[in-house]
Amino acid sequence: MTFSKIIGVGSYLPKNLLTNKDLEESLDTTDEWITSRTGIKQRHIVSKNEATSDLALEASLKAISASGIDKNDIDLIIVATTTPDKVFPSTACILQAKLKINECPAFDIQAVCSGFIYALSIADNFIKTNSAKKILVVGADSMSKITDYKDRSNAILWGDGAGAVILSASDNLGILSTHIHSDGKFENLLHVPKKNDPSLIDTIEMQGSQVFKMAVNTLDKIVDETLLANNLHKKDIDWLVPHQANIRILEATARKLDMDMSKVIVTIDRHGNTSAASIPLALDQGVKENKIKPGNLILMEAFGGGFTWGSALIRF
Ligand code: COA
Repeated sequence: MTFSKIIGVGSYLPKNLLTNKDLEESLDTTDEWITSRTGIKQRHIVSKNEATSDLALEASLKAISASGIDKNDIDLIIVATTTPDKVFPSTACILQAKLKINECPAFDIQAVCSGFIYALSIADNFIKTNSAKKILVVGADSMSKITDYKDRSNAILWGDGAGAVILSASDNLGILSTHIHSDGKFENLLHVPKKNDPSLIDTIEMQGSQVFKMAVNTLDKIVDETLLANNLHKKDIDWLVPHQANIRILEATARKLDMDMSKVIVTIDRHGNTSAASIPLALDQGVKENKIKPGNLILMEAFGGGFTWGSALIRF
């Protein structure tokens, strides 16, 4: 049987920092409120001339280097993003050109904060069906470009960044299962409404507390679904690598898994919510900090606009 194995991880964060103290200057908020309600202390923000594909490029180069493969062996590129450089071509095609890789298929997928899990799930199916052998899977977002910095309930959350993995066909266990879902009827709780005015930028609108409750309940269910599908128990999981939306959501999922927070990779304090980038960013952090090691069983999970949600169980 062929498995999809992660053989390289990389990530990139833009240089500019936006701290809670900075936000105190422009918004009716405090560092204390933001920290206690979200766990966020700072976020990285792209500069004016930086595009999502630039973040994706840096993360991809690091993942390719960590994997030790020749970039020309990549036979599929998938980029999960909600903030593409342009309507078209896809950010994956722009990334492909920047990487100077010719002719392999490249496409974007859009599932907001669940995007990386969706991309991983698609990539896993390409490998299992022998349609690809080496896949570059990227989560990259410049959420600052669609954030209204006058809306205090929203502006405090988002950050920019990218993370990437190289997925390779392998005889050894890798991705055990992926689980993806969506429910479009909740569109208006978390979305970017069309202003239909070319002079205005369309920005995120969110019913925060309703999204919060839905996220906690849904992630509870996806944990059960994933363990059941693999006939595994909570205690079998070595690391939780969650989408970083709010420290209180992370804590609720850890409680559900009877897991100590020391077994959860947490980056929300330094990165904020980087949407599709947050899981591969956290994975890279966990690997760099020498926490996640080969052979560990890791559970990734995410919830986001759509609503979309999903999980991946991986023998690293
Ligand atoms: N600073 C100070 N006060 C703020 C504030 C800020 N940045 N943002 C909101 N408030 C105020 C509200 O105006 C409200 O005041 P009121 O009681 O006088 O009306 C009060 O704080 C509580 O607002 P509420 O929205 O109920 O806060 P909350 O505890 O739900 O926290 C979020 C708000 C956004 C942090 C929280 O709901 C959240 O994280 N939701 C999930 C968001 C998410 O994960 N989205 C992405 C999914 S991938």
